[in-house]
Amino acid sequence: MALIEWEDSYNLGIEHLDNQHKGLVKQINILHAAMKIGKGKESLDEILKALINYTATHFKSEEELFFQYNFPDSKKHIAEHEKFVKEVLKFKEDFDKGRLMVSIDVLHFLKGWLINHILGSDMGYKSFLLSKGVR
Ligand SMILES: [Fe+2]
Ligand SMILES: [Fe+2]
Repeated sequence: MALIEWEDSYNLGIEHLDNQHKGLVKQINILHAAMKIGKGKESLDEILKALINYTATHFKSEEELFFQYNFPDSKKHIAEHEKFVKEVLKFKEDFDKGRLMVSIDVLHFLKGWLINHILGSDMGYKSFLLSKGVR
């Protein structure tokens, strides 16, 4: 079973952002599956890189909409993105140096952060952007 199952309640109603969120869920599930079957460092490294790139692309998409429509809470939201990027990069660095294994704790952190962020902070811009006609 996948680590994260997508639920309809995660949808914002803004198609490309919902698709990116689904993509992030998929990336974390891929990492989980690879860890479970004991994939080697090299493939985990590739998967982590893909997850980091995907995350950066997604955050950029949200932040561009914030600027375009002057979202009033953008500062706080962007700070959350930045904090997450820092934590994941630190995690990747530790992994590269062999100080850290991709563990179930790490996966639960990623899962918890993503779901909380979507259901908390991302839902916070939902009605604002929908009211601007973004779909
Ligand atoms: Fe998001
Ligand atoms: Fe966000």
